[in-house]
Amino acid sequence: MISLRDLTEDDLPWMAEVEAELFGASAWSRELITHDYRYGFARYRGLELDGSLVGYAVYGYDGDAFHLMNIAVVPQARGRGLGRALLEDFLGEARAEGVPDAWLEVAVDNAAALSLYRAHGFEDVRIRRRYYQPEGTDALVMRVQLRGYRPEA
Ligand SMILES: CC(C)(COP(=O)(O)OP(=O)(O)OC[C@H]1O[C@@H](n2cnc3c(N)ncnc32)[C@H](O)[C@@H]1OP(=O)(O)O)[C@@H](O)C(=O)NCCC(=O)NCCS
Repeated sequence: MISLRDLTEDDLPWMAEVEAELFGASAWSRELITHDYRYGFARYRGLELDGSLVGYAVYGYDGDAFHLMNIAVVPQARGRGLGRALLEDFLGEARAEGVPDAWLEVAVDNAAALSLYRAHGFEDVRIRRRYYQPEGTDALVMRVQLRGYRPEA
């Protein structure tokens, strides 16, 4: 059974370990995660499979746009719709906020994430050169227009 919930501060060491495993040198550190969790604007969401955390997403309104900052599923739990569930949670929250669109960046060589985002209607906007450090990988900025958005008259 899968369920989504907000992460608590006690979950952050787990998240930092997964970050380091998945993203190596460009991972968010435990210090950065804790600081952002306490003082930033983002919402930290966790996804449980049969009672254990296996994925997370970080998103929110950064003062400019509704933005997905991070999304990951542990390798053992991939390929069974959990990344999709986290992304749909993000899109549901964006719709609930009443924003016209939602934004993200993704490494240009991240085939799995690109395919997930394109399947949910995200479109290419522009390339940010050498966005991911220290590797220097380019990022693709993507945006989805949210159906049902009604600008105020
Ligand atoms: C991207 C990620 C979150 C996907 O999680 P997941 O749980 O495996 O994804 P799902 O099972 O929900 O798959 C949803 C869709 O993603 C795409 N996808 C997932 N894995 C894929 C792969 N290996 N190759 C190509 N497309 C893939 C497909 O479009 C898939 O839809 P389909 O099942 O109808 O084909 C996961 O691969 C991950 O954590 N990667 C490392 C962290 C990361 O790169 N995050 C993105 C940062 S921008």
